[in-house]
Amino acid sequence: MTPYLLAIDQGTTSSRAIVFDQKGASIATDQREFTQHFPSDGRVEHDASEIWESTLAVCRGVLEKAGLDASDLAGIGITNQRETTVIWDRATGKPIHPAIVWQDRRTASLCTKLKTDGHEDTVVERTGLLIDPYFSATKIAWILDHVEGARARAEAGELAFGTVDSWLLWNFTGGRSHFTDASNASRTAVFNIHEQNWDNELLKLFRVPRPLLPDVLDSAADYGEAEARWLGAPVRIAGIAGDQQAALIGQACFKPGMAKSTYGTGCFLMVNTGSKAVRSENRLLTTVAYRLNGQPCYAIEGSIFVAGAAMQWLRDGLKLIGDAAESSAHAQSVGVDNQVYLVPAFTGLGAPHWDPHARGAIMGLTRDTGIGEIVTAGLQSVCYQTKDLVRAIQNDGAVLASVRVDGGMVVNDWLMQFLADILNVTVDRPRITETTALGAAYLAGLQTGVFDSLEQISELWECERQFHTGMPPALRESLYAGWLDAVERVCNN
Ligand code: G3P
Repeated sequence: MTPYLLAIDQGTTSSRAIVFDQKGASIATDQREFTQHFPSDGRVEHDASEIWESTLAVCRGVLEKAGLDASDLAGIGITNQRETTVIWDRATGKPIHPAIVWQDRRTASLCTKLKTDGHEDTVVERTGLLIDPYFSATKIAWILDHVEGARARAEAGELAFGTVDSWLLWNFTGGRSHFTDASNASRTAVFNIHEQNWDNELLKLFRVPRPLLPDVLDSAADYGEAEARWLGAPVRIAGIAGDQQAALIGQACFKPGMAKSTYGTGCFLMVNTGSKAVRSENRLLTTVAYRLNGQPCYAIEGSIFVAGAAMQWLRDGLKLIGDAAESSAHAQSVGVDNQVYLVPAFTGLGAPHWDPHARGAIMGLTRDTGIGEIVTAGLQSVCYQTKDLVRAIQNDGAVLASVRVDGGMVVNDWLMQFLADILNVTVDRPRITETTALGAAYLAGLQTGVFDSLEQISELWECERQFHTGMPPALRESLYAGWLDAVERVCNN
């Protein structure tokens, strides 16, 4: 048995590839950032060809770093930024428009109209999502309405839609495979998560032609083979999941009630609810966590659009810090009792507010406010937003004893301690924080026989450090009240 697995983590700002062994240990990593396009207010695009090229480059790069050949791989697992919408020509394999990124708000007015016309309840009931520009459906319609001739060509079956997983799969297999997995399908707003199929009524509502769509497979499945021309030998593609779902798998949150929170560009908190699709009463999402052997496992999700991206903005936009690590020193000198609040609603607000029209703000400025206070407020905004989600989840009846954290930001001890303090929930940081890629590797490993079961995978999870709350309740409450006040000022809901 060949024990190595190649995980591709195609994220919002970079493409990464990691080789894992059969114990879930990472052997080598390669990463490339790619261009973010912001054509106008609220619009975010990627060049889908650059996504593919950067992905291929990191796959080749990681094999070289690991000193392995493609023939040493049991399989490839793909995980990806979700909802981002690519439409391409089936004959040429060329995208007909730049990819519209999940953060893009251009369809906000269409969403408002659909809501005003009373369609939200049907969408929630069938897809577990809300009506928001975040999801793929209105992005698909927008492309078909704005690229000349596209709608007719889509109806005629000449075009293909995919989230980034499908787009990469199509390229790897030379156009042979047009599939997605149930977790990615569940983010489009046209997939019925209870019946596990594309929903004809929703396709009609969002004006999405059926011939565009990929077939939906389990998250561990035979997706086809990456052609030998790409990596030097053919390799099975055996696992696919959206990045947040993959992180849940990488964190081994397989039992109902287990929760993870990932800090990447955005922040996504997910709680496993098992075979039951629990409907949130507090504007959280119900989503497919993964589907194995035809059995969907569901999760409740709280999605925040800007977490790490706020630090990126402080670094690249305002140039207040040279690198993310500097933020920790600022926070230590300012302290938790910071009265400045930064609401990073750069692309509207996600859960539980869902206001696509909200925009960011910094509040509580005084004459002695300095860089330190603003940077600290950026870090704190990540924790306050997580608190918004945890409160909503708790109001939905979940009991959160602890939350497993991952993503680039969790190396920051100050941030993790403040998170535990504000949430009043224990924060568990695992030994491997590359859990998104690990989840994709686990899926490919399950399909190719490197791993036998979810139980075996659970045993591989190890805690590196726990953070317990030590904050006096009165301080927690007053800090959080300040945050709620700041959010209320930018929210139109
Ligand atoms: O839903 C969007 C999410 O999948 C993006 O994740 O890690 O690229 O911020 P990330």
